[in-house]
Amino acid sequence: MVTVNVSGTARFCGGKKKETGLAASHALSMLLTGTGAGADFTGWIRYPENYSNEEVRRIKTAAGKIQSESDVLVVLGIGGSFLGAKAAIDLLKSPEYNLFKKHTPDVFFAGNGTSGAQIERIIQLIGDRDFSVCVISKSGSTAETAAAFRVFSNLLEQRYGAQSANRIYAVTDAEKGYLRAAVRENGWESFIIPGNIGGRYSVLTPVGLLPMAAAGIDIEAVLHGARDEMDSLLDSNGGDASIYAMTRQALYRSGKKIEILSSFEPAFRYMAEWWKQLFGESEGKNQQGIFPASANLTADLHSLGQWIQDGERNIFETMLLFTEDSDLVVPETSLLEDGIDWLGGKSYAQFRDAVFEGAKKAHMAGGVPMISIQANTICEETFGALIYFFLLSCGISGYISGVNPFDQPGVEEYKRNMKAILL
Ligand code: PA5
Repeated sequence: MVTVNVSGTARFCGGKKKETGLAASHALSMLLTGTGAGADFTGWIRYPENYSNEEVRRIKTAAGKIQSESDVLVVLGIGGSFLGAKAAIDLLKSPEYNLFKKHTPDVFFAGNGTSGAQIERIIQLIGDRDFSVCVISKSGSTAETAAAFRVFSNLLEQRYGAQSANRIYAVTDAEKGYLRAAVRENGWESFIIPGNIGGRYSVLTPVGLLPMAAAGIDIEAVLHGARDEMDSLLDSNGGDASIYAMTRQALYRSGKKIEILSSFEPAFRYMAEWWKQLFGESEGKNQQGIFPASANLTADLHSLGQWIQDGERNIFETMLLFTEDSDLVVPETSLLEDGIDWLGGKSYAQFRDAVFEGAKKAHMAGGVPMISIQANTICEETFGALIYFFLLSCGISGYISGVNPFDQPGVEEYKRNMKAILL
């Protein structure tokens, strides 16, 4: 379902592709045999076939309850406990792709920063509407999430009194952490983040699935898409995920230190944020690693385009294309004589493809290697497939680069400083 074309990188990789190709095979084998660093956190590799049907049924039941009782769901979490669900809901439920679907609660995300204004705005948006809260934290001790949970659980308490506990849904570790202890104490409905799956690899677990289901997304279709992609990649020695991973690492070894993921879909923006966290937190270690950036096309061709074309030559571009587009056609009109009448009668798909080819040619001529990734139409299955494709690519790529892609020691430093200041 996801295909990769790396022909636009050939002349930029030097001799590095051979070595990263060999390393990719070894990396995949380490992932599959559990012999690499962080092997205790590779539960995501087989999760699309190992997940519990009972857990999915419970998620759907909880989502149905949220939909029937609430006009708003507030989802609290940060990093891997936030970005995947936000990416899914933006991509699949944005007004462009959600026409004629049944009414579902508004989903607002909080606990992902320190903006009091953002929280106040969400409280205003809830207004006197009924709401529920889904709090997501594997460790149960993330300050941003815990602070917002205090705000919204107080609000629930004020509004629903003793009944407020029925409106709290917690997603956390099975045993460890303060949040699990609070679940035991208060009897909240809860779901488990598998111990062997780290935050940024957890979107296909209840972390992503509960908010998605509450928003009306068919989570079984998401899991089927991921499973099909898993089968196809694992049956073909990593397939296009391996090709993507080895190519980006060959480019890095040839001096291309920044990868720009660009897409033509505005609704993809948070998917790119999720991708940035996945690769950035997995690979940015030991003073090394490709810096993941993103661009929204074509808007960013009118802002970052100049830099991409002509700035420092340390970047490569990965363009993501959904091949099935709408049939919309730019109308022909005699009202406008602006010299752009050659657009009239062209479909938006033609327009997009021409920009894609035009930008690819221009950027490559400017010294920017180009990877393209293609997926079909925007739907639940494609979302699941893309997620799995990037997870496997990241695991392989991380091992090629010689790091443990499943830890994040660097993010602890700011937390220690913040705690010392506030204590
Ligand atoms: O990928 C990760 O592990 C992190 O980004 C975490 O998801 C993030 O720090 C949130 O952690 P927690 O779920 O423990 O609140």
